[in-house]
Amino acid sequence: MTEIPVFDADAVVAAVPVERAIERTREAFVRHARGEWEMPAKVYVDSPPHGDFRAMPARGGELAILKWVTSFPRNPRRGLPVVAGALLASNAVTGELVALIDCASVTSLRTGSGAAVSALALAGDGARTAGVIGCGVNGAWAARSLAAAGYGPGICADPRREAAEALAAELGWRAGSREEAAAQDVVVTVTPGSEPVILASELRAGQHVAVLGADARGKAEVERSALGRCRLFCDEWRQASGGGELAGAVEAGDVSRDDVTELGAVLAGDVEGRTDPAEVTLFDSTGLAIQDLAIALAVIEAWRAGEVDAATTSI
Ligand SMILES: NC(=O)c1ccc[n+]([C@@H]2O[C@H](COP(=O)([O-])OP(=O)(O)OC[C@H]3O[C@@H](n4cnc5c(N)ncnc54)[C@H](O)[C@@H]3O)[C@@H](O)[C@H]2O)c1
Repeated sequence: MTEIPVFDADAVVAAVPVERAIERTREAFVRHARGEWEMPAKVYVDSPPHGDFRAMPARGGELAILKWVTSFPRNPRRGLPVVAGALLASNAVTGELVALIDCASVTSLRTGSGAAVSALALAGDGARTAGVIGCGVNGAWAARSLAAAGYGPGICADPRREAAEALAAELGWRAGSREEAAAQDVVVTVTPGSEPVILASELRAGQHVAVLGADARGKAEVERSALGRCRLFCDEWRQASGGGELAGAVEAGDVSRDDVTELGAVLAGDVEGRTDPAEVTLFDSTGLAIQDLAIALAVIEAWRAGEVDAATTSI
């Protein structure tokens, strides 16, 4: 039997400050773009009509990981989270299991960080204000990440006014309407993706929009006609074209591989990001296992450095 650390959500958040999560997420995109970190395709297991499970493997650094995670959009009505599950981390040299990590907290840290990394890489030089549309679990972490990356003040928009107000109060921002949030320099959407929250008529020259909510087939947060007005970026083409914001437009033949740049290629310096201050850049995030891997590595490092405690279990 091997004794391994078990990191609950509090331990993950204590182990990885948001600034570190952003830096590690950025590094993950670069390492993947350079072919140093490997990521097989995410596997979806539908559980209709409730939601779906995803199995997300990756290998890089000293670890290989598997994240087993849900998206159950109706769960909040049951008082349960949309995203839940566990992440198994194994030693990439010996194959030994080295840690068991709560996956909702890892997901939130890396999802919010992804939005901040995209803004730092693609937003215009003068971009400051932030709008967050959808202030649930992952929207809140996206807002925290944007604030940590230097964006703000911001507008928080959510039909659940109390969620928008609580987040705004935490960050010293303001709760406002969807329209107000959509008018900011950097806009992040983290809704269930059941209706458009970014409209073509509302786009402003020079904006950066990070769309995070549409991470599976059938979800979309952006009006189709708005996509044609944006320079398109994604986290990974295979995943984004199959089950992200861009999937519907790809299926309809409106968007093809040549129209979309992967964020990692920009961060690695292989291709240009924003080329014109007036351009609207749109980043389609579907959430990558390499991002989870980056956070898992940071959690384990912090534990080894004595920065955080963890329970242990034998397996
Ligand atoms: N891209 C990624 O990496 C990634 C990671 C995690 C979750 N997600 C996706 O993000 C979405 C949100 O996940 P969550 O865990 O934050 O869920 P959540 O239920 O905690 O939050 C969703 C929020 O959106 C709000 N909302 C609903 N309709 C809205 C609208 N029209 N305008 C503004 N706000 C609206 C809800 O009131 C709620 O507060 C899900 O679709 C999930 O699958 C994506």
